[in-house]
Amino acid sequence: MTNEKNLFELDREHIIHPQSNPKEHYEQGPKIIFDEGNGIYLKDVEGHEYIDGVSMLWNVNLGHGNKELAEAAYNQMTKAAYTTTFYNYTNEPSVKLAEKITSLAPGDLNSIFYTSGGSESNDTAFKLSRFYWQQKGYDNKNIIISLKRGYHGVTIAAQRATGIGAYRDFSGVLEQKIINAEAHLTECELGDKSHPDYDKSISGLIDELGADRIAAIIIEPVQGAGGVHVSPNGYLQAVRSLCDKNHIHFIADEVICGFGRTGKMFGCNHWDVVPDFMCVAKGLTSGYIQLGGVIMRDEIKNTLNEFDDMIPHGFTYSGHPTACAVGLKNIEILERDNWVSHAKEMGDKLLTGLQKLEEKYSFFANPRAKGLLAGIDLVKNKETNEPFDFEDRAANQLITECFNRDLLIRAFDFEPGMNIVAIAPPLIVNEEEIDNIINIIDAAAAKIKKNII
Ligand SMILES: Cc1ncc(COP(=O)(O)O)c(C=O)c1O
Repeated sequence: MTNEKNLFELDREHIIHPQSNPKEHYEQGPKIIFDEGNGIYLKDVEGHEYIDGVSMLWNVNLGHGNKELAEAAYNQMTKAAYTTTFYNYTNEPSVKLAEKITSLAPGDLNSIFYTSGGSESNDTAFKLSRFYWQQKGYDNKNIIISLKRGYHGVTIAAQRATGIGAYRDFSGVLEQKIINAEAHLTECELGDKSHPDYDKSISGLIDELGADRIAAIIIEPVQGAGGVHVSPNGYLQAVRSLCDKNHIHFIADEVICGFGRTGKMFGCNHWDVVPDFMCVAKGLTSGYIQLGGVIMRDEIKNTLNEFDDMIPHGFTYSGHPTACAVGLKNIEILERDNWVSHAKEMGDKLLTGLQKLEEKYSFFANPRAKGLLAGIDLVKNKETNEPFDFEDRAANQLITECFNRDLLIRAFDFEPGMNIVAIAPPLIVNEEEIDNIINIIDAAAAKIKKNII
């Protein structure tokens, strides 16, 4: 029998929660003790039900309680606990999954290096990019350029690539070979040197540092934790051309976008861009188990093929057979039941709902969505784009009112002037559930209106 009080107190006493406020935890204890889930719904230990409006951390793409995924894990676990992929050992699920993923990935992204999550994937891509250039005789080609507002994880290199100050600067260790460029300056990347922000663009940084010092550029096709910013049309293509011209790798961080979230299998598919490395995690297993990977082009694999020594990189759980079996089943279900095109349809409906809310409330602005990755800004004045004061915590007020109505969505307000709300339900959400999500946000907005205007 679950003893709720006990769990509550034990949690407070013994757990340091990631990306959480420790003082609040110490004073108030854990906010929800989750117990079980079904579809887009989650219940806590008291049986209280919530709508999971952000697929937890944008990862539970197939929703909660999927028995087929659980069976895939059970079947593999009862065959073998774990087998390593070090020393060129392998296992059937990891091989089959590699074949499947590379058949779906665009262009000649034909090989994968497995990891256990997104940060590990990004760190791995940085290392393999730098290693590639070393193999080609360019020892100084080691700088990574990332974008402001980009989020790439919390291991030291991924943290430094993250262009959100609070995450990037936490604990004060900065990897010096990673630099944040201003995001989405399409004109600059197309060569407009007269643009006032040219120096801060990727192009400007290449001019300043020299292409012979830059290994790779990392970009999320749709920035997630930075506030759901969709790459403007032409932007990724412009960066791809810059990379080609300057012999720089293009790393697509598809940790959120990958596996159907944006209404196509990968975010890059929207702009027909083939990156050199594609980092995946999260939706690869719909969050049922930890798995990530770096998918890479033939040119990189061929260069690695010439290296006749051990590569001193890899994780205990690289290619974990259970995780790979779940990943394989997850992709099988995504394809069999057409959840990717369903995500596009439901995303369009969600966007229409957000647009209606924008018309109704003066403080909503800029609704946007690619598939089921959606966001909306809260601003004091829509005409002038004047932001709310930081103390207003407008986005936080909105999500608190949604929480009070049993809808879990996320606020991004870690910088002054930033008040963004993200909505990203599981891909299996239906029309009625989308209407329900919009109605709850509507009711929450009506409630906070009095406080914030
Ligand atoms: C785009 C992106 N990249 C990387 C990561 C890091 O992934 P993980 O938390 O699995 O290390 C995240 C996590 O939210 C992410 O959104």
